[in-house]
Amino acid sequence: MGSGGREHALAWKLAQSPSCTKLYAAPGNPGIAEEAECVVLDAGDHAAVIAWCKGHDIALVVIGPEAPLVDGLADSLRAADIATFGPSKAAAQLEGSKGFTKDLCERAGIPTGGYVRTHSLDEALAALSGFTAPYVLKADGLAAGKGVVIAADKAEAQAALTDMFGGGFGEAGAQVVIEEFLHGEEASFFALTDGTHVIPFGTAQDHKQVGEGDVGPNTGGMGAYSPAPVLTPELQARVMAEIIQPTVDRMRVEGMPYSGVLYAGLMLTQSGPQLIEYNARFGDPECQVLMMRLQGDLAAIMLACAKGELASVEASFADETALTVVMAAKGYPGTPEKGGAIGLGDAEVSDAKVFHAGTKLVEGGLVANGGRVLNVTASGGSVTEAQKAAYEALDKVDFASGFCRRDIGWKEVAREG
Ligand code: AMP
Ligand code: GLY
Repeated sequence: MGSGGREHALAWKLAQSPSCTKLYAAPGNPGIAEEAECVVLDAGDHAAVIAWCKGHDIALVVIGPEAPLVDGLADSLRAADIATFGPSKAAAQLEGSKGFTKDLCERAGIPTGGYVRTHSLDEALAALSGFTAPYVLKADGLAAGKGVVIAADKAEAQAALTDMFGGGFGEAGAQVVIEEFLHGEEASFFALTDGTHVIPFGTAQDHKQVGEGDVGPNTGGMGAYSPAPVLTPELQARVMAEIIQPTVDRMRVEGMPYSGVLYAGLMLTQSGPQLIEYNARFGDPECQVLMMRLQGDLAAIMLACAKGELASVEASFADETALTVVMAAKGYPGTPEKGGAIGLGDAEVSDAKVFHAGTKLVEGGLVANGGRVLNVTASGGSVTEAQKAAYEALDKVDFASGFCRRDIGWKEVAREG
């Protein structure tokens, strides 16, 4: 279920799975249509999704984005005996409510920044005095990656809180979490769990800001690479022991077992890894680089996860680095220009892959249909080599109304240099 670059990467890998005999995507996109049969289904109409799955003998449903998870689609499917990869509505609160996650961390002793949950503007303004600049303010609910404000001083923080409680983030801002600012480098860690058993499922780093050198407004992500060398084997072991396993255990003990992929956004601080946030799904575009490296049968792994049998499978990733560059439509992350023509040419030579994030076909021609449009992905023996291969492929793409960052992976390339 889904229609972005993350879902294209999942569909691409599922289509290669020996255990997958037939793959459908709802709604999919023109890239996904090369891997799967696309069908029109309304993810919000649970009865219709169930009826369609029953009618097509579906063995496993994979839910890509967070909105249907937070909306309880996985619960409805499981209640109808349809195996589903993705957490329940209760478990998806780890992404759907920042305050829920902070409270859970506190109960389970998971390292994360100090915080207060606030429910009114007055309460929030008063709580500011317990923090120092820069102030981290988070709308509690889902806000499409835009609900976090880092305010440089108190006046800016007050203005942001006024906006949040004034409805600037809709329902998501009815509660606001104020949080201690954490210093360090950010990295992402992925784990699969069936509620009890947990396996690490790769690391990545992304570039959230629109401008080169990581400046400008935040986006959904302008590029990513995997693995993230900053997450050394020793740090990964700490993340599993101090953050992931205690979360999974606590969720199970509290009656909200978490099943699916758990994506931890981490700050690597001087005292060790701290949790910034959880997501209840794969990262986009982090998923694209994970799928480039994953070895083995994704459908079998996901089915085992959905059935509570994760202990019976193993996941391994190629040692190579994969790197993806997002081609966005001009105007993104503001109002992107829609309808720009795209020519993919022979960008997919050697192992490069162009995942479709926001495209559609108009009279047989591919055009832009969203903010992030394409994810040009390639691999190599190092971040430097993967970067070179990705930009070589990207330079063969003809997309006049698009733009991209030319520096994806820069921190690691500098360290490798
Ligand atoms: P989130 O949506 O919670 O991942 O936040 C978006 C971005 O804001 C993160 O990727 C970080 O760059 C930044 N951020 C969030 N929380 C903190 C924090 N406590 N300290 C420093 N930076 C943060
Ligand atoms: N690329 C960040 C995310 O998927 O949340």
